[in-house]
Amino acid sequence: MNHLPPPNGVPRRSFFQLTLGWLAATFATAASAVAAVRFLVPNVLYEPSQRFKAGKPDDYPDGSVTFLEDERVFLLRKGNTFRCLSAVCTHLGCTVNRADRGYHCPCHGSVFSDQGKVESGPAPHGLPWFLVTLSKDDRLLVDKSEVVPADKYLVV
Ligand code: FES
Repeated sequence: MNHLPPPNGVPRRSFFQLTLGWLAATFATAASAVAAVRFLVPNVLYEPSQRFKAGKPDDYPDGSVTFLEDERVFLLRKGNTFRCLSAVCTHLGCTVNRADRGYHCPCHGSVFSDQGKVESGPAPHGLPWFLVTLSKDDRLLVDKSEVVPADKYLVV
């Protein structure tokens, strides 16, 4: 067999080995760079905002208790005052229903007063009230991350 080197002086087998080596090194470097960049990006889960606009004050008739299904809250209007009560039962998180008087949980029978206080269990504590403010464009703005006392109203 004749093993003469090609005219440029690099044997064909060496040329392929060199190329393969360079490709492997390049791939390893690129993979390390991607891993390093990925390490710099935090693993954070972004929760949906706890604030939402609930429309104009005039959308709610005087004396109304309106269930906002998407947000699982009740919006209450009395005269020119507004409050917002959670509709999430403090026992295991079922949605409570408005009853003739107060609120009733259909899952295990907890009963809450009009003020959201527990009248009968198993709910461990009352329904929280959320902060209601007015946005710059005159919409009701509810913040479910801000729990307020039951006697705190928005007056418009
Ligand atoms: S979830 Fe409401 S009483 Fe159990």
